[in-house]
Amino acid sequence: MKDLEYLQQSTAVKNRFERLKKRPVALEVKNLSKRFQSPKGEVTALNNINFKAYRREFVCVIGPSGCGKSTFVRTLAGLEQASEGSILVNGSEVTGPGSDRGMVFQGYTLFPWLSVKQNVMFGLRRAGHSKAQAEEQAMQWIDLVGLSKFAENYPSQLSGGMKQRVAIARALANQPKILLMDEPFGALDPQTRAKMQSHLMEIWQNIDITIVFITHDLDEAVYLADRILVLKAHPGEVQEVIEVAVPQPRNAGHLHSQEFLACKRRLEALVHPDDETEMNKDHLNMVRMVHVHDDVPSVF
Ligand SMILES: Nc1ncnc2c1ncn2[C@@H]1O[C@H](COP(=O)(O)OP(=O)(O)OP(=O)(O)O)[C@@H](O)[C@H]1O
Ligand SMILES: [Mg+2]
Repeated sequence: MKDLEYLQQSTAVKNRFERLKKRPVALEVKNLSKRFQSPKGEVTALNNINFKAYRREFVCVIGPSGCGKSTFVRTLAGLEQASEGSILVNGSEVTGPGSDRGMVFQGYTLFPWLSVKQNVMFGLRRAGHSKAQAEEQAMQWIDLVGLSKFAENYPSQLSGGMKQRVAIARALANQPKILLMDEPFGALDPQTRAKMQSHLMEIWQNIDITIVFITHDLDEAVYLADRILVLKAHPGEVQEVIEVAVPQPRNAGHLHSQEFLACKRRLEALVHPDDETEMNKDHLNMVRMVHVHDDVPSVF
């Protein structure tokens, strides 16, 4: 089995990433640090992050729990203030939330009292569009996510996957330059999740958008990303940026390719190194109540 470095040396892969890096920079993160004050003292969630995403690039961010992924994406969204450093979107500094960035969260964040159409219209109305304009545009985005038949339904009448499609339509309706997604498919069952991944890829291929997608699912990261930003914990720092050697556009056939497996192995080595597995086993021993060879009393 060929390793990732070998595959990345191929001319096709090198050319692909050379072309990618010639595109305009959509997002630039410079020396970004974020510290929180907590009752136990100061927590450094992010430490000196430097990263660039290029126009129409699909970037996944991966790392162990608590390494600062959500803090990173919330800071990009302007929902958190950087302690140090700066964030530029198309060259302009981020000072707070803005319509140039759309956000989709893991939890379902639709307004339950509004229909699908009204949810998608919400941001458009706030941006000053007339009701007719907002309705027309909302219907186009709802159509793009394949929910035209459900425009009048309320969130409680939708499945989890459908709710997230509405959330994507709502985020895209303001025509952001960057779509920020924090584990958007984390709560979905594996089949729905796979469908949503393919659907998102299709949307991304059809519109001019740069995506920053947080996940802790290695397969998801390799399947979706052009490049993967790997963060490490305590403090959250860039561990590596992986150029995914799998050709774009992707389909389910790529899931078993050499390139896919080599990239996943590299990620596994970074995110789940052996010593961490040992630590988890110790932890398991501490909380284990029943051992494998214990007699389990029968209640029947
Ligand atoms: N508002 C806050 N106040 C204090 N500490 C915080 C706050 N938000 C996050 N943190 C801390 O910052 C660190 C990073 O948290 P964050 O939620 O960004 O991690 P994460 O990588 O998204 O984790 P997960 O994979 O579990 O979602 C953690 O140590 C967390 O406890
Ligand atoms: Mg998180």
